[in-house]
Amino acid sequence: MSDVHDLSGRIAVVTGATRGIGEESALALDRAGARVVLTGRTSEDLERVATQLSNDPVIIQADLAPAGAGTKLAEQVLAQVDGVDILVNNAGIPMRRTPEALTEEDVDLVFSLNVRSLLMLSIGLGASMKSRGGGAIVNISSVAGLSGPIGRVAYAGTKGAVDAMTRALAADWGPDGIRVNSICPGLIATAIWEEARTTVPGLTEELEQGIALKRWGFGDDIADVVVFLASDASRYVTGESIAVDGGMTRVGTSTVKLPELED
Ligand SMILES: NC(=O)c1ccc[n+]([C@@H]2O[C@H](COP(=O)([O-])OP(=O)(O)OC[C@H]3O[C@@H](n4cnc5c(N)ncnc54)[C@H](OP(=O)(O)O)[C@@H]3O)[C@@H](O)[C@H]2O)c1
Repeated sequence: MSDVHDLSGRIAVVTGATRGIGEESALALDRAGARVVLTGRTSEDLERVATQLSNDPVIIQADLAPAGAGTKLAEQVLAQVDGVDILVNNAGIPMRRTPEALTEEDVDLVFSLNVRSLLMLSIGLGASMKSRGGGAIVNISSVAGLSGPIGRVAYAGTKGAVDAMTRALAADWGPDGIRVNSICPGLIATAIWEEARTTVPGLTEELEQGIALKRWGFGDDIADVVVFLASDASRYVTGESIAVDGGMTRVGTSTVKLPELED
């Protein structure tokens, strides 16, 4: 019987592969057998990640914020590899601002990276996936798109858009065998939390109280679900947004013990 998690012979593109969730996803896809195309802005980090991969990785340095960047990256990818089977749209920025502090430039920046480039890169690689008989797109969204976080209105908007686009693209491309799903990470200890975790007293502990599993997540907690959604193990899953948050968004966390009640 074939191993449904085996990605040997598949080509995967990971955006934001220089650190955090993207780095862990690239490592996990490589371990599962895929050849990984690593992209991000920081060349030294792309090189560092590539040295840890076994299946002849490809590096493409790219800033995904400017207009046209998603389409251009798709062209660069297809110039370097025969085709693409898996796309992990992970690159993203948090844009933590109160509504009053948010500028139009902030809104443009976070939407251009988190939404526009994600969609245009997906569209740019879609024809290649179709010609190979299908593929899997995994969008890294956020629980911020599922609940209403304080001080992150623009970011929450981008992630709500990612989940909506996930469902719509799954509808468009389901007949072509392309599955499109998103992962909504909760609190994952990566660089985007580093400053707040060290400078805001008690933040780590307080946020942990709202997590059913009582711990922050790590990049590999997300990467294992990326591999699941990229592989044939999830062959009948599409258009889904899966919260990977230790039970922060949809699970009760109160420790108050209720008395046993008779029916
Ligand atoms: N950590 C969490 O708690 C959490 C929770 C929910 C969702 N997420 C989502 O998970 C994804 C990854 O986040 P992370 O926590 O791993 O953050 P991270 O450690 O800051 O990594 C972000 C990645 O995005 C890349 N990136 C940033 N700006 C870019 C640009 N203009 N063009 C191309 N690449 C760019 C960065 O690479 P370079 O700087 O080298 O370009 C880096 O590889 C994001 O979409 C984020 O919204 C994270």
